Amino acid sequence: MFILEGKTALITGGAGGIGAACAKMFARHRIGALTLTDVRKENLLRTAGEIEKEWGLACICIDADIRKEEADAAMVAEAADRMGRLDILVNCAGISRMGRLYDVTGEQWDFTFDINVKGLFFVCREAFRIMEKQKNGCIINLASQAARGGGIVVTPDYPSSKAAVLTLTKSLAKSGAPAGIRVNTVSPGLIATEMTATFGYDPASVPLGRIGKGDDVAGAVLFLASDYASYITGACIDVNGGIAMI
Ligand SMILES: NC(=O)c1ccc[n+]([C@@H]2O[C@H](COP(=O)([O-])OP(=O)(O)OC[C@H]3O[C@@H](n4cnc5c(N)ncnc54)[C@H](O)[C@@H]3O)[C@@H](O)[C@H]2O)c1
Repeated sequence: MFILEGKTALITGGAGGIGAACAKMFARHRIGALTLTDVRKENLLRTAGEIEKEWGLACICIDADIRKEEADAAMVAEAADRMGRLDILVNCAGISRMGRLYDVTGEQWDFTFDINVKGLFFVCREAFRIMEKQKNGCIINLASQAARGGGIVVTPDYPSSKAAVLTLTKSLAKSGAPAGIRVNTVSPGLIATEMTATFGYDPASVPLGRIGKGDDVAGAVLFLASDYASYITGACIDVNGGIAMI
């Protein structure tokens, strides 16, 4: 059964890693229309090309930096306009850095929060404008196990920003519920992507014995995006191989 048949989705950070895995998962489940956005235009076009080749779905690609409030408004409006409606938003765009607390300048702190929290909020707010009119919609935000655990090799701005995403999601879930907008978080542990390529984590330290794949996260996103999750909002699904059990 194709659980997203006829629906439309916008995925930020869709050029690679978890965002691209979600895009492919959605295409596999016959999403009706898909918009991918990212700052990395070449990678975005490559992912879109792979999806078209394998599933015959021509993605709409929008090259946008989510830190820019006006660009976010234009990007979400264009996506909804070209797809006809906006059923699902997945916020995968994000950054992290390895390092110690002394490496964090004010500039770095702001940069991380501008992308991981403020930019994510702008995109959600613009999606709300459309979803409220539709009286229906679903938003999935990517947080991180680091939000609750504090992170291991990353600088402290990253787990702090992801903790903000957890709380922001609950706030948005309360605002959206009366209009039929569900907002949830997926919180990955260590997933093999470009972001974590240099983290050097030992698979033996994960109870399930392996580092996660983009598809592991995309499966949880697919469930939350589907009508099977129609009574779930303000929740967080941990996808971490058992690293932390809360
Ligand atoms: N990989 C992991 O282990 C892991 C663990 C926990 C949480 N996450 C979260 O999952 C999400 C996806 O991570 P990933 O591992 O796929 O990382 P990734 O680096 O492979 O992908 C992130 C994408 O976000 C894009 N991006 C960065 N800044 C942007 C901006 N200003 N505007 C638009 N796009 C921007 C990047 O170009 C990139 O394509 C992130 O929010 C990350 O924090 C990842």
